[in-house]
Amino acid sequence: MQMKMECFGPQADTAALEKQCRALYAGLPVRYDGVTGWLDCMTATEGYLDAVKEKAKEWREIADTLVVVGVGGSNQAARGVIDALGARGMDVVWAGNTLSAYELQRTLERLEGRSVVMHVIAKNFETLEPGSHYRVLRRYMEQRYDEKEMARRVVLTGTVGSRLHEMAKERGHLFLPFPVPSGGRYTAFTVVGLLPIAAAGLDVDAYLRGGMDMQRRILEEENNPAFAYAAWRNALGSAGFDTEMLVSFEPRFERLARWWRQLFGESEGKDGKGIFPAYSIYSEDLHSIGQYVQAGPRRMLETFICVRNDGGCVPVPEDKAARDGFDYLDGRDFTFINDAAQRATIAAHSEGGVPCAVLTVERVDEYAMGQLYYMFMAACAVSGQLLGVNPFDQEGVEAYKRSMFAILGK
Ligand code: PA5
Repeated sequence: MQMKMECFGPQADTAALEKQCRALYAGLPVRYDGVTGWLDCMTATEGYLDAVKEKAKEWREIADTLVVVGVGGSNQAARGVIDALGARGMDVVWAGNTLSAYELQRTLERLEGRSVVMHVIAKNFETLEPGSHYRVLRRYMEQRYDEKEMARRVVLTGTVGSRLHEMAKERGHLFLPFPVPSGGRYTAFTVVGLLPIAAAGLDVDAYLRGGMDMQRRILEEENNPAFAYAAWRNALGSAGFDTEMLVSFEPRFERLARWWRQLFGESEGKDGKGIFPAYSIYSEDLHSIGQYVQAGPRRMLETFICVRNDGGCVPVPEDKAARDGFDYLDGRDFTFINDAAQRATIAAHSEGGVPCAVLTVERVDEYAMGQLYYMFMAACAVSGQLLGVNPFDQEGVEAYKRSMFAILGK
């Protein structure tokens, strides 16, 4: 089944905006020349797919633990896929994304006794988190592996000509270039996303197929989910709905939600504009944020990612003797119960005045993840333009860095 989108609750007219989305999408390569290389999934990987697959295969033969050093757009996409699907036959440790000494200490402890490989991803190699972690982890690995082993265990991904590129040459590491014509958060279909996903034993071909199919639908179908979604949130944004919460009843989508939050937060939050992106994992968070959504200010949009078949199968056993009050669940599978909670939530929230968009995928697999990622990236690129901002820069991120570098004496 192809991914689809349905809307419930208060709505706004989106027909004209959807038409505008088509023109904005078509104009992206000219308007934002230099940062839209991601638009075509296949060219985004051009020349590197074989190298990615070969390296992933080699790593899977020699190692049991992959450390991915990267932050923001340099790790979130891969993490979203790997968390949703689970790494197969390889543990993945995420580093370079915090400055907490406690977390870094824990990371080093997790590597004890493991056979480790490392993918360092840093666009310009100036960001503090990945740069500092790479130094610590490099020293850690150099104490365990000789030069020849280090050369095959470490892959560096950065901008061609950056210091990271030079270090790759000096140390004999494979260098897989950061795709220049893409901003970090739009790199889901480049080596940045693909090498960790492939090394985690997941099917990158199916993932790319999902992205390409969504790209084709956007080009060919009048009513595709990307434009429908971009138009929906902008129409409601103009009507005063200034917060959007991405929700799912699948906890394994939490990292996907964080990727989505970065994508929309960094792309749209500028010039005093932007719908605030938040996320929740239901049903757990219905017991925390549910009250606010149902009865708080009517300014929130809710976007559900639903799965038709979650792949689980756990029926509730009969237990009449217990008289625990749950006999109405006898024999029901949790897939059915979770789905019932989801339908009930959409009904209650939409009837309570929350505009809801429901994006449904058949199952959680590489293909579905590819569809979701491309759909959100395309939607974000046109949504930012509808809002009147440049969806590809993130000047606001620099402000805290300037004062931090001053404190650290850079
Ligand atoms: O979207 C972006 O460009 C940013 O979120 C970057 O990915 C993030 O700041 C990390 O940058 P770098 O890869 O240079 O460390």
